[in-house]
Amino acid sequence: MTKSNTARHPSRRQFLQTLAAGSATAAIMTTVPNMMPGVVTGRAQAASPANLRNLVAAPSSANLIPGGAIQTPVWTFNGSVPGTLLRVKQGEDVNVAFENRLDEPSSIHWHGVRLPNAMDGVPGLTQKPVAPGETFEYRFTARDAGTYWYHPHINAPTQLARGMYGALIVEEDDPISVDREFVWLIDDWRLGANGEIDPTFNGGHDVGHAGRLGELVTVNSVHNPDIAVRPGERIRVRMINTANARIFAIDFAGLAPHLIALDGHPITPHVPDEPVFLFAPGTRADFVIDVPVDATGGFALLDRFFDGLENPLVNLRVQGDRMRDEISTARMALSANPLPEPDLQNARREQLLYTGGMMGGGVLRHLVETGKIDQGFLGGVRSMAQSMMGMMTGGGVWMVNGRDPERDDNGPLFDLKAGESCVFTLTNATAWYHPIHLHGHAFRVISRDGTPTRYQEWQDTVLIAPAEQVEIAFVADNPGDWMLHCHILEHKFGGMSGFVRVA
Ligand code: C2O
Ligand code: CU
Repeated sequence: MTKSNTARHPSRRQFLQTLAAGSATAAIMTTVPNMMPGVVTGRAQAASPANLRNLVAAPSSANLIPGGAIQTPVWTFNGSVPGTLLRVKQGEDVNVAFENRLDEPSSIHWHGVRLPNAMDGVPGLTQKPVAPGETFEYRFTARDAGTYWYHPHINAPTQLARGMYGALIVEEDDPISVDREFVWLIDDWRLGANGEIDPTFNGGHDVGHAGRLGELVTVNSVHNPDIAVRPGERIRVRMINTANARIFAIDFAGLAPHLIALDGHPITPHVPDEPVFLFAPGTRADFVIDVPVDATGGFALLDRFFDGLENPLVNLRVQGDRMRDEISTARMALSANPLPEPDLQNARREQLLYTGGMMGGGVLRHLVETGKIDQGFLGGVRSMAQSMMGMMTGGGVWMVNGRDPERDDNGPLFDLKAGESCVFTLTNATAWYHPIHLHGHAFRVISRDGTPTRYQEWQDTVLIAPAEQVEIAFVADNPGDWMLHCHILEHKFGGMSGFVRVA
């Protein structure tokens, strides 16, 4: 759907096909879904609060390339990609001893979880880096039900690209009833000549364009897994985009799944109207899929973000007897999480202007001409225009209100009062998509380009299209320093970063 600079990828893809074809093993998988890594069917064992879990960061290897012959060296949590799936009940304590057996410092950030600042896992801001050989204990209460994930927050472009991530599922007290549940961690890998992870991280081209895009898309580290489903079966799929940079535009192949949660938080169940579902790095989406009772064959879920460069995601193969004669009518709506409701009337209003990257000048000009960017505000960040001239010369490639928070040391973007309601207007004055993530809170996405959103959805990461303006609203009720950054990890590296201080 988006035409962009992807010329290098077809040849990489061909190369992968060559690698895969060289292996004698058939690429067709007949995996039993329950045995796929990351697929969980039962509910969690009741875990006592004292129950300490271990997550060990260490090198390992994974078979990512179809065919089974090639092992790719990866970095992992507990030896596998994805790392150990953590599953707790809402209200339960999470208690994780994180041991770093890598050769470089690491940490664990619990993406989307509203937890105490000291547990947020951001070296340099909320804790010291966990040095090689060290252990750090993370403890927090899982206040909100939903689909969350964990990953390092230091040298993230490298550590995530090498495979370091896992899911944290917080079960509702009153779960909806489905026949099976899947957790899909969707990733995109850029591999080198021998199937190893391409070791050029934070390359200038990636930083200034769409980030590190790869050529091999996997779900739970398997390329295009084949999953058998029964006619009439109702499944819940918890999808997590763990890619450094790839935004997926998911085509559900004629299925009409209901979206029931975004970033862990319930949304009014509905079938999205758009022909594809835009799914950005860092974000999660929970869908209920009802396999039609008269379905035959299968449903090949596809990513269509780049025209002509579609990626197969998952093949749902219809097999076996009908599970029921008519589609389940059981409740799909999830109970709300205990989120504080922002007071829009009296909210503090702030602007965040994102600029930079390649080809951004025209977008900025357009937004100024159409009055979307206030002249007075722009005047205040005028130095930005000059800095933009000098970009790609070693400084920040991206800017937030004229600053490069990755490199300058000017403190928080905003000092917020604990308990204060905030409305931030985020303007994407660039030629690229950006999923902007706020730590430690969830916010409502209240409008896009001046039009109120239909569902006023809660998110922790909001995807903003080029030239788009989005308003988010939240209560800054969690004291501490909380990052607010683009989850395209190369963009964050290039300056699309920063934090807010709540005190
Ligand atoms: Cu998922 Cu600041 O990150
Ligand atoms: Cu970005």
